[in-house]
Amino acid sequence: MLKVAVIIGSTREGRLGGTVGAWIERHLQKRDDMEVDVVDLAATPLPTVLPELGQPLSDPDALARLAAVSPRLAAADAFVVVTPEYNRSFPASLKNAIDWHNKEWHAKPIGFVSYGGFSAGTRAVEQLRLVFAELHAVTIRDGVGFNGVWGAFGPDGEPPTRPPMPPPRRCSTSSPGGPRRSARPARAPPTRHERRI
Ligand SMILES: Cc1cc2nc3c(=O)[nH]c(=O)nc-3n(C[C@H](O)[C@H](O)[C@H](O)COP(=O)(O)O)c2cc1C
Repeated sequence: MLKVAVIIGSTREGRLGGTVGAWIERHLQKRDDMEVDVVDLAATPLPTVLPELGQPLSDPDALARLAAVSPRLAAADAFVVVTPEYNRSFPASLKNAIDWHNKEWHAKPIGFVSYGGFSAGTRAVEQLRLVFAELHAVTIRDGVGFNGVWGAFGPDGEPPTRPPMPPPRRCSTSSPGGPRRSARPARAPPTRHERRI
């Protein structure tokens, strides 16, 4: 049985991360070869002040908070990271959870479910790939992304069937922002002398 930890990375009040996390959890629960543990960073907040490098953690509150998360990450064989996009990246709560751990990530596959506005959280995922590379984790190329996440889930928590995307609109070459104008170098028109050359 593969132990999969689903990490819900956003902790914002009124977040949609819970909806997205519950959606992927339901899918994974259908598998009879996987055991799913949802690590919700809003339910188990981690301390935000790291100890001095090389020094053991002594604060009892910080130790208790880590004890609610770290053993579950250590026990996981694989992860699904559920991440929104914040300012073209991933949320600080997720980076904090990543940075508190090290060997817990080593050599483990990591898949992504991302969401956001226009970009479906893909920019957050691409940056997470760099971070997880440092931690010897193996990120999975293919992922799931929800754009326009505000309308991406119905009241039942499932994504409604969306109408097909409209065909791309033609961009007129004569419009002010059209390709012909934007490709033209921005410089003064040639003088009479230059024209003769
Ligand atoms: C601080 C902040 C920054 C955001 N920046 C982006 C962004 O750069 N790109 C994007 O597509 N959506 C952006 N969004 C929209 C979020 O992806 C969207 O609101 C999502 O629901 C946030 O996840 P959450 O509801 O789990 O907190 C931003 C939202 C917040 C709160």
